[in-house]
Amino acid sequence: MCGIVAGVSRRNIIPSLLEGLKRLEYRGYDSCGVAVLQRGEARRVRTLSRVCALEADARAAELDGLTGVAHTRWATHGMPVIDNAHPIFSGEQIAVVHNGIIENHEALRQSLTEKGYEFNSQTDTEVIAHLVHEHYCGDILAAVRNATRLLQGAYAIAVMCRDEPNRVIGARQGSPLVVGIGKDGVFLASDTFALAGCASRFIYLEEGDLVDINGLDVQICDAQGQAVARREIAFVQHALGTELGAYRHFMQKEIFEQPVAVARTLATIVDLDPLQVGMPREGELADVSNLLMLGCGTSYYAALTACGWFERFANVAARAEISSEYRYREHVSQGNTLVVAVSQSGETADTLAALRYAQSMGEERTVAICNVAASAMVRQSRWAFITEAGAEVGVASTKAFTTQLVALFLLAIVIGRQRGRVSQSEAVVYMRQLAALPDALRNVLAREPEIMAWAEELYQKEHALFLGRGTHYPIALEGALKLKEISYIHAEGYPAGELKHGPLALVTDAMPVIVTAPNDVLLHKLKSNMEEVRARGGRLFVLADSDTGLKSGPGVRLIRLPAWFGPLSPVLHVVALQLLAYHVACLRGTDIDKPRNLAKSVTVE
Ligand code: F6R
Repeated sequence: MCGIVAGVSRRNIIPSLLEGLKRLEYRGYDSCGVAVLQRGEARRVRTLSRVCALEADARAAELDGLTGVAHTRWATHGMPVIDNAHPIFSGEQIAVVHNGIIENHEALRQSLTEKGYEFNSQTDTEVIAHLVHEHYCGDILAAVRNATRLLQGAYAIAVMCRDEPNRVIGARQGSPLVVGIGKDGVFLASDTFALAGCASRFIYLEEGDLVDINGLDVQICDAQGQAVARREIAFVQHALGTELGAYRHFMQKEIFEQPVAVARTLATIVDLDPLQVGMPREGELADVSNLLMLGCGTSYYAALTACGWFERFANVAARAEISSEYRYREHVSQGNTLVVAVSQSGETADTLAALRYAQSMGEERTVAICNVAASAMVRQSRWAFITEAGAEVGVASTKAFTTQLVALFLLAIVIGRQRGRVSQSEAVVYMRQLAALPDALRNVLAREPEIMAWAEELYQKEHALFLGRGTHYPIALEGALKLKEISYIHAEGYPAGELKHGPLALVTDAMPVIVTAPNDVLLHKLKSNMEEVRARGGRLFVLADSDTGLKSGPGVRLIRLPAWFGPLSPVLHVVALQLLAYHVACLRGTDIDKPRNLAKSVTVE
């Protein structure tokens, strides 16, 4: 998704802007650009290529200046062509970079055209540039304030003006923007990670805030124009950081980091209480009888997996909702509800909006499960559990997912305890299982050579079916999602019992069927479903717990995972499926860390 870096520096700002853009590459983009104020001119370069190509272009153009704005664009309005790449100019005077979607851009475009403005792009951003230009009377802050009042939709913007060479204005509404203060300058970016190289203190802007960076001075005012002081935080460098090291791809590295990520997430737990922000008083969740979980993509699958845990341990009615659907449905209040927003980034526009919608419908008890402590969802929620996965760079989520599962499992135990459904001694048993998870994950990772052999057999296929039952059905969905997003193979996840209600028609020897087979109570049912596939000449690839008694045979390839790991078994099986998707994608030669058309952090609807 679009990324912003901007600022005012004591020295040439170009290296800081480009370094910031490189750090934002993980979010996904299809074009990028940078502009600086140089000798009384706004100068820019833009490319449809990677940031390293932009770097070469900036060098060739001899861009050099103290004030600049830069951007990675993930196309929403208008194709990825140079004219649509940011920074977007109005005349030679105003330069804007923007993340978000301006919903009333057509009406604004019309009225600006009538006033004589010419549009050189198809972007909604160009209306912002022209509006700022229209309102400019010598004070860029006032111009941005007046222009943003006319905008509907979501935006984070950074704006500079040729006539005020040491000034950058930022504004946010619905999309994230953070101020970073370093010894050489003051910067703006979409996340703190982008500025890790040049800033050490950070301020998250709130909804409606404007920030005026004037030289090395920073002034923030709220939506009403009142000066405000926002909380400053120091940068925390994650041990699970962003160096690739000996790995070929970040996704591979992040898959292998899972034992440590899970261990670190567990290390944050004191007294079985994962709700760390504004700690709920003992028993505050005791009357919870309904759970509404909100998420998108992989985070939604984490929520779906957890439904079974909440039902089993806490005896609450649990449902997982896709945020983009839930936010437009009628909210039927069920009483005594805990709303759980599940999000790796904590900034996903649909989940944030779904959370706010639930709150507006009177749901007061909300918890965010996020990997980013300072994210909008954490700030929006009453409680938060911060997973400790460290920075996840690969677009396809891996370690964020498994740590979300750990967090949700813990929450189920906490609610179960508070509702008297889980005894202290049972809680101790579950905590021991959690503590054993990192080693069990290492055991699964050790199956990599066998998984690579499967990948050799699968990588030339164009379709695949993934089957699971119970808490492993969402794992089948997640396995299919991983495969499609990084290898571009069409894959579907199904509850195995549904096979004969339709998808069995697809099964031939050309359709590999991948099965996640734990040794749980549904195993004998799953065996029948596998027989249904075999009887139609289908080829099975079965991830089986070592104690299932399942064996390889004609048409059945089997990888033996450790013995059944109890209710946490989904956390192990999904790791094998991540590795499978990864190695299939390697053999197909795709851009694994930045799959086509996808973005890491989806901050627009
Ligand atoms: C897939 C993936 C996405 C995200 C989804 C939600 O590998 O990463 O499906 O899970 O975009 O993102 P978050 O978790 O940041 O809300």
